Amino acid sequence: MELPPEPLLFKRLLLTVVLLASTVAAELTLNPEHLDEEKDGSLIWRIQGAPTGDVNYTWYRGNGSLEENMLISYNSSSQSRICGPENTGRENVTDKGFLTITKLQFNDSGIYTLGVTSPGDYQVATGQIQIWERLLTPNLTVSKVNVQAYMDEVTFTCHPNNTGDFQIEWHGIFLTGIKTGQWKVSSDNRTITGWVFPFQTGPYRCSLSSLVSWESSESMWLNVYYGPNSISKTSSPTYFRDTVEAKLGSRVNLECRATSMPSCRYQWHLNGTALPTNNSNISIKNLSWSDVGTYRCIAENPGTQVVLYDTFILKVAEEFMIGQYSYTLYQGSVILLSIGVGLGLLYLIGGLIFYLVSKRPWARAGPQPD
Ligand SMILES: *[C@@H]1O[C@H](CO)[C@@H](O)[C@H](O)[C@H]1NC(C)=O
Ligand SMILES: *[C@@H]1O[C@H](CO)[C@@H](O)[C@H](O)[C@H]1NC(C)=O
Ligand SMILES: *[C@@H]1O[C@H](CO)[C@@H](O)[C@H](O)[C@H]1NC(C)=O
Ligand SMILES: *[C@@H]1O[C@H](CO)[C@@H](O)[C@H](O)[C@H]1NC(C)=O
Ligand SMILES: *[C@@H]1O[C@H](CO)[C@@H](O)[C@H](O)[C@H]1NC(C)=O
Ligand SMILES: *[C@@H]1O[C@H](CO)[C@@H](O)[C@H](O)[C@H]1NC(C)=O
Ligand SMILES: *[C@@H]1O[C@H](CO)[C@@H](O)[C@H](O)[C@H]1NC(C)=O
Ligand SMILES: *[C@@H]1O[C@H](CO)[C@@H](O)[C@H](O)[C@H]1NC(C)=O
Ligand SMILES: *[C@@H]1O[C@H](CO)[C@@H](O)[C@H](O)[C@H]1NC(C)=O
Ligand SMILES: *[C@@H]1O[C@H](CO)[C@@H](O)[C@H](O)[C@H]1NC(C)=O
Ligand SMILES: *[C@@H]1O[C@H](CO)[C@@H](O)[C@H](O)[C@H]1NC(C)=O
Ligand SMILES: *[C@@H]1O[C@H](CO)[C@@H](O)[C@H](O)[C@H]1NC(C)=O
Repeated sequence: MELPPEPLLFKRLLLTVVLLASTVAAELTLNPEHLDEEKDGSLIWRIQGAPTGDVNYTWYRGNGSLEENMLISYNSSSQSRICGPENTGRENVTDKGFLTITKLQFNDSGIYTLGVTSPGDYQVATGQIQIWERLLTPNLTVSKVNVQAYMDEVTFTCHPNNTGDFQIEWHGIFLTGIKTGQWKVSSDNRTITGWVFPFQTGPYRCSLSSLVSWESSESMWLNVYYGPNSISKTSSPTYFRDTVEAKLGSRVNLECRATSMPSCRYQWHLNGTALPTNNSNISIKNLSWSDVGTYRCIAENPGTQVVLYDTFILKVAEEFMIGQYSYTLYQGSVILLSIGVGLGLLYLIGGLIFYLVSKRPWARAGPQPD
């Protein structure tokens, strides 16, 4: 990627960190606290313990005071400056011997040596400058925001706006799949691709990190659509073989529930005619003959267009009168009653057989009373 033209380069892309590798002379020191990073991308490297008076300060690139590596030198008595072969026009030296570098660049990183000459004395100090790229917010894109579980392959792409050394990391609780192989990571770590499972809806993001900087992209919300796989029905009174029987005038509730993402839309039909409701339930406060019929609930996932349906048959429970009392027979109780009647009959027959069987031996064994 092309770097933006200066002055954007040093204003936005650079971060300087200085590590001092060594101080050689006993008195002369180059310390980190004596180096300032200015806001406009300039650097001033202060020194401590230098002699005063008639002094020659000479700065070099690299470790050592080789003439061919000279940047600039200053003679305080003649107040003259001499540029060396390594000078790029951005290096200068103050009258205190401080090195200044304007419009910092990455390749200004490295070792610098200062030689200080005064009558009868020569001292050398060496230090190191490290310049890092300030990481910018990466841009995150996704191939599709609304995806169907098991069906759509998703690709996230991280777009860094940096050129230096950094690592790309991916975040999102469902990206633990990177380790399990659900996600394929490109060799430069910039894209991840995978099929998603239900419940993997959530925020995803990428981040850049270097030794001195960390930046995250905005979170991107992925919607994973799934279902419905089944409808679960409940009713009051309880249904039996899809059939709900209730007394005229009683309260009836029919309900269908289907789990999906996004949530299902519900429709109800009575005998094939759509009812004006979109609830998952039908509530009848006072059952009348006009309410009976076949109810069909239809659950549709508006995201996946998957449609499921189920039915209830609503009937009026039969009532019959004995004297002044009225009884209601529900299908369930009819069965229980039949079983009850059946058990009663069995008991009677069993009793009769026992009576017959137990009577005979008694009749044979003992003498007949007169
Ligand atoms: C500079 O060179 C000297 C001698 O060659 C060496 O002892 C010293 O460790 C070097 N300093 C750095 C920072 O490389
Ligand atoms: C500084 O320059 C003056 C005049 O050229 C010279 O006499 C003096 O020796 C120089 N000082 C050093 C430390 O080189
Ligand atoms: C300071 O000393 C260095 C090394 O001897 C020399 O190359 C340079 O010209 C001198 N600088 C000045 C301003 O006299
Ligand atoms: C270095 O700084 C001095 C004083 O600020 C200035 O006069 C001189 O022109 C500068 N030299 C270079 C090479 O920038
Ligand atoms: C340092 O980097 C700048 C800009 O990136 C380039 O113009 C220059 O040639 C480089 N200098 C060296 C010594 O590599
Ligand atoms: C991020 O990516 C989107 C989609 O490609 C694009 O519209 C937007 O301009 C990008 N933003 C930056 C800062 O690159
Ligand atoms: C990269 O960053 C620069 C500086 O912040 C910005 O001006 C530029 O729009 C960014 N480019 C992209 C593609 O994000
Ligand atoms: C990709 O990420 C892995 C794990 O974080 C890392 O070990 C590897 O160096 C990265 N590769 C690149 C090219 O960034
Ligand atoms: C149910 O409706 C019937 C006929 O419309 C009415 O006579 C009765 O009072 C209603 N019962 C209740 C509890 O609302
Ligand atoms: C259900 O119907 C109501 C009123 O007609 C409407 O405001 C609502 O958005 C509908 N809900 C769904 C999930 O369709
Ligand atoms: C039926 O569903 C609606 C909306 O989902 C709810 O407000 C109402 O309480 C439900 N009725 C019953 C009896 O469950
Ligand atoms: C629905 O159909 C059943 C059976 O044909 C019928 O008994 C019932 O009256 C019908 N209900 C409605 C509301 O049309």
